[in-house]
Amino acid sequence: MSFSPPQDDGTVSITFQGKTATLPVLSGASGNSVVDIRSLTKELGLFTFDPGLGSTAACESKITFIDGEKGILLYRGYPIEQLAAKSSFAEVAYLLLYGELPSKEEHEDFKERLLNHSLLHEQIRNFFNGYRRDAHPMAMLCGTVGGLSAFYPEGIDISNEESRDLSAVRLIAKMPTLAAWAYKYSRGEPFVYPRADYSYSENFINMLFARADRPYKVNPILSNALDRILILHADHEQNASTSTVRLTGSTGSHPFACVAAGIAALWGPAHGGANEAVLQMLGKIGSKENIPDFIAKVKDKNSNVRLMGFGHRVYKNFDPRAKIMQQTCYEVLEELGIKHDPLLELAIELEKYALNDDYFVQRKLYPNVDFYSGIIFKAMGIPKSMFTAFFAVARTVGWVSQWKEAFNDPLRRIYRPRQLYTGHQRRDLNK
Ligand code: ACO
Repeated sequence: MSFSPPQDDGTVSITFQGKTATLPVLSGASGNSVVDIRSLTKELGLFTFDPGLGSTAACESKITFIDGEKGILLYRGYPIEQLAAKSSFAEVAYLLLYGELPSKEEHEDFKERLLNHSLLHEQIRNFFNGYRRDAHPMAMLCGTVGGLSAFYPEGIDISNEESRDLSAVRLIAKMPTLAAWAYKYSRGEPFVYPRADYSYSENFINMLFARADRPYKVNPILSNALDRILILHADHEQNASTSTVRLTGSTGSHPFACVAAGIAALWGPAHGGANEAVLQMLGKIGSKENIPDFIAKVKDKNSNVRLMGFGHRVYKNFDPRAKIMQQTCYEVLEELGIKHDPLLELAIELEKYALNDDYFVQRKLYPNVDFYSGIIFKAMGIPKSMFTAFFAVARTVGWVSQWKEAFNDPLRRIYRPRQLYTGHQRRDLNK
């Protein structure tokens, strides 16, 4: 097989067994160009092989751009640093969904829609009753979100733009209520309902922490910090859970079922489960003296131990979200009057140690967004098992925005990858 370098006419050629395929190279607005291989199989009988899809652009998208080398993250063109500093989560959700920041009226109207749809059908209470009290919140979220598809049969009409939009808004609006109820259920406490005078993040905090037996006031520093954390997690182009939502959506499934699939993908420790895993790891390390031994274990390929909260498939310089998260972490601890947090101090030492170690430097492994988020959540009184549920609430915006975008893509097809088969050749039963 031989490849020609990109030609002036914007093509590459591949010659295989005497036949040549000329493939166009497509350029987007930013980022790597892509070789359009759609005619490869027809012309040369070849598939491409890319386990983990690290070199594959699976779709065209206008929503989020990441430059992993430069540590850049843009939502609809706006840098994450500016959005985190100056926008509310509702504004960012609107931006991701509809492509532009809302005007004042659009913002008010969108907040009202989110509020209106934040209530759950009373029968959903019975869903929770079916779970054990110690069920993981992500298990409850997966089940209840999937189950909600039965409550909205009109969601099946995915050919209708208005119905798709309604499903998207419903999902964003209901996720904090579902996540908070999963938490309340695990504690055996009564569910708290959304309030019309609270913002999205205030409501989320109130539904988690308000109790029937005493007054509760949402701390604005904490709700602002939560708003920022939700903004940082809202979308991240074609990550594992978003690709899962797109893949499930490509079959024409109900949007609530697609998001339930995304929740399942997010749950894993290599993805959204990492912030929970970071705290477990810090707990196991225990104190600063044990860092060198722990890092030696991480570097030992036979140990299967990873430095959780480090490394990223795309960021190979720094994760811009991690910087904002670290700053937010300091602000939250200060507001809560926590002068010395042993976990934060251990995390800072661990980060310093790893960033000076050749193993991590050579592999371009830096702290990712999850390295500090767990410490903030812990300081806010949120239990470890809820960390990934917070991530799911935020990422729902990205999931539904990408799910909606896929419908307007003229190239939309069912996802159906191929394989390199390495099993038995045909053989016959010996009886
Ligand atoms: N600790 C130790 N070594 C690591 C780590 C880590 N956290 N991450 C990558 N490596 C090493 C690999 O062992 C590999 O080494 P090798 O070349 O000697 O074999 C090299 O770095 C490349 O790693 P890959 O696994 O190929 O990187 P990939 O892009 O597939 O994985 C991932 C990215 C899953 C995030 C990985 O870095 C990881 O497991 N990190 C820890 C879990 C984590 O924090 N996940 C959160 C990601 S961010 C998010 O989802 C919000």
